[in-house]
Amino acid sequence: MQKYFVIGDPIAQSKSPVMQNANFRDKGIEAELMATRIFEEELEFWVASFRKNGSGACVTIPHKVSIMQYLDEVDSFASEVGAVNTIVNQNGKLIGFNTDGPGFIQGLEEFDLSNRKILIIGAGGAARGIYYGFLHKGLSDITIANRTVVKGYAICPNVLTLEEAEERLSQFGLIVNTTPIGMFPDMEACPISLQNLTKETIVCDIIYNPFKTKFLKEAESRGAVIQNGLPMFVNQGALQFEYWTGQKADRKVMEEAVLEQLK
Ligand code: ATR
Repeated sequence: MQKYFVIGDPIAQSKSPVMQNANFRDKGIEAELMATRIFEEELEFWVASFRKNGSGACVTIPHKVSIMQYLDEVDSFASEVGAVNTIVNQNGKLIGFNTDGPGFIQGLEEFDLSNRKILIIGAGGAARGIYYGFLHKGLSDITIANRTVVKGYAICPNVLTLEEAEERLSQFGLIVNTTPIGMFPDMEACPISLQNLTKETIVCDIIYNPFKTKFLKEAESRGAVIQNGLPMFVNQGALQFEYWTGQKADRKVMEEAVLEQLK
């Protein structure tokens, strides 16, 4: 039985086990993914044991940056992002990847994104992954809006305050909330006002619990196209599975497993 892990702190809420185990069952692979709560000071020890016993891992908050120092190789995209969310154990050689940004972009495949000005709200790890994901797709008309403006400049040259973004909202054709504002249990919160939103805009939230955040409800009521965080979560997980096994993941199977657990 091959062993896979998702490590983070906290970890109890992680839907990666149910989603990846559905993949293993679907493909008839004798493997199991387990959630393991790891504190920062345990990380190095965990990596040493994983090198011997683990086949692959998902890395989540708060270890996506600190894990990098313990790996043998980090692929060029993950290095650019400066964070790893996936580890592949290739016969004792540990290689890090980042599937968050590419997963988010894959979730938008049904839309034509060319000529859309992009607004990313937030400037944390998720925003960074998504920013580089867009750049790799050739989409570079990107602005970041963040409470702490200097953090925005660490990612991108075009930065607005949240208030400026609210005022200029009608310029943007694609808006992505990457902050945790609106996430369970604080579900009445909204990252910015959508008063100036135009109907043609696609509005995304990377949150999937609740399934429709206040931000998305507000966008929908103004006639915009909305997308929650589930496609990103499923696609980033599918890409992880593909790095681990070389097999194409069935995204429908994964989505159903997550939805079942969210019920
Ligand atoms: P992640 O790795 O998931 O992106 P993070 O690195 O903690 O998480 O980033 C969270 C983002 O949400 C940050 O941009 C943060 O703004 P600051 O850079 O000003 O800290 C933003 N954020 C979190 N809570 C917020 C709040 N209550 N109001 C405004 N922005 C908030």
